[in-house]
Amino acid sequence: MEFFIRSGDPARIRSGCLVVGVFEGGKLDQRGKDLDKAAGGLIGALKRRGDLPRKPGQILLITDPSGMSAQRLLLVGCGSPKLFATKQYRRAMETAARALATAGATDAVSLLAPSNSDPYTTARHGVEAVQHALYRFDELKTGKKEPAPKIKRLGFHVADASGRRKADRGIHHGGAIAEGVAVARRLANLPANHCTPSYLARYARSLASGNKRMTAHILGEAEMRKLKMGALLSVTAGASVPAKLVVLEYKGAGRSAPVALVGKGITFDSGGISLKPPPGMDEMKFDMGGAAGVLGAMASVAHLKPDLNVVAIVPTCENMPSGTATRPGDIVRSMAGKSIEILNTDAEGRLILCDALTYARRYKPATVIDVATLTGACVIALGHHLTGLMTPSDKLSSALLDAGQQAEDRAWRMPVTQEYNEELRSNFADFANVAGREGGAVTAACFLSRFTEGLDWAHLDIAGTAWRSGAAKGATGRPVPLLVQFLLNQAGGRQ
Ligand code: BES
Ligand code: MN
Ligand code: ZN
Repeated sequence: MEFFIRSGDPARIRSGCLVVGVFEGGKLDQRGKDLDKAAGGLIGALKRRGDLPRKPGQILLITDPSGMSAQRLLLVGCGSPKLFATKQYRRAMETAARALATAGATDAVSLLAPSNSDPYTTARHGVEAVQHALYRFDELKTGKKEPAPKIKRLGFHVADASGRRKADRGIHHGGAIAEGVAVARRLANLPANHCTPSYLARYARSLASGNKRMTAHILGEAEMRKLKMGALLSVTAGASVPAKLVVLEYKGAGRSAPVALVGKGITFDSGGISLKPPPGMDEMKFDMGGAAGVLGAMASVAHLKPDLNVVAIVPTCENMPSGTATRPGDIVRSMAGKSIEILNTDAEGRLILCDALTYARRYKPATVIDVATLTGACVIALGHHLTGLMTPSDKLSSALLDAGQQAEDRAWRMPVTQEYNEELRSNFADFANVAGREGGAVTAACFLSRFTEGLDWAHLDIAGTAWRSGAAKGATGRPVPLLVQFLLNQAGGRQ
C-alpha cells in the first residue's frame, strides 16, 4: 500500500474513491461541507432521504456521485463530532479501509481528520489504522483465501502546502510503525511449531543483514552456561528445542549509551511441571509477545534510522514439562549470583528476563525497558485496554505514559514498592519466584526489580494487550507504537 498527500478542491479530485466522514445528525465537517457545496448538494439530498450513515462502523458507498470527479464516494459514520479525537479517527479509518478492501477502487483520497488535529497526526494515524485493518494472517491456510484488496494507493487531503511537509513526516512515521506492528503481529500469530527460538533468531539476523547500522548476535545454550544464566536455563530444561538469547544492536548515535529493550520470548508456555489447565492453552503461543514487540520496534527503527543507539535483547525458549524439566521447589542460581526458589514453574517469564536484564548491563544502557506477557494478574487488574507499567522512576514513567498517549497505545502505572517486594521471601533461597495470588502483576515486577538496581528501568506487562481472544483471536502488535514513539521522543523528534 502506498500513501500520498493531496491538496486542492476535493470535488475536482480524480480518484477511484473519495472518503468523507458523516457525524451524528448527518452533520459534516468543514471539508465535507465544502465538498457538498461544490458538488451541488448530493450529501444534503442523501441526508433528507435518511440514507446517511451516522454511527461509527456504518458506511455508504455511492458509485458515480454527481458533481464530483471521483468515481466513488464512501461516506463513513463518525459519531459525535465533539468526541472525534485521534482514537475515533483511527476507528473510522479502519472502517473505511475494510470497505475499500472489498470495493473495486484501486486508489482513494480521504477527507477525514480528527478534530483539532494537525496534518502529521492525520497522516500518521491514518496510515497506521489502514495498515492495521488490511493486515491478514493467512500464510498457513492452504484453501481458498480472502482475495487481496484492490486498493493500492491512499491519499490524505491537506488544505495547503504548509501542511504537506508535516503530513509527509506523518506518512513516514506511520509507515514505519505499521511495518513494526505487522512484524510483531506475524511473529506472535505464528504457532510454536513454526515460531521457535531459532526462528526468532533467524528473523533478527535477517533484519540485521538488510541494515548497515544493525548487527545481530545469537547466544546458544553453551554460551548461556558459560555466563551462568541458571535462571534462563532452568526454564528451557524440559524443552527439546534449543533456547537462544537474541541480541540485535542498532547504532545510530556513535558511542552514546543505548536504550535497551528486553522482550520475553517464551514461544510456548505450557506452565511446565506446574502445568496450565487446558482451556485457552493454545493462546500461550502468544507468550513471546514481548519478543515480538521488541523485534517489531527494531523493524520500525530500521526504517526510521533515528539518531540513537538501541539494543534489543530477547531471551527465548519453550516452557515444557518433561523428565528433565525443573520441579517446583528446585533452587537455581541466576547470572547475577542470586539464588531463586522456583515455587511455581509457570512463573517462568521473570526467570528468563532476570538473566537477560543482567546481561543487558554489559551495554551500559541509559534506559532499560522490558516487555512481557508476564502475568494473568495484570489482565485482571487492567483488562485488555491498557498495558501495565511498573518503574521506580517518575521521570521514565511519564516519558512512557506520554509516548503511549501520543501513539494511541496507552499504559497505566502500577506500584513497585517494598511491601510487595517482601512477599517474595523464601526459607531456602535468597527469594522465591512467586508470591501469593494477590497483586501478582506487582510482585512479578518486584522480582525483576531485584535485578535492575542502579539501572533506569521500566517494565511493561502486556499480558492483556498483546493479543485478543475469541472470534477476533490474534496478535495486536502492541506495544510497538508506544516503544517506537518513546524512541522517537528520545531521539529528540529530529527524525
Ligand atoms: N505467560 C503467563 C502469563 C499470562 C497468563 C499472560 C494468561 C496472559 C494470559 C505467565 O508465564 C504465567 O503463567 N504467569 C502466572 C504467574 C503465577 C504462577 C505467579 C500467572 O499469571 O498465573
Ligand atoms: Mn507461565
Ligand atoms: Zn509465560
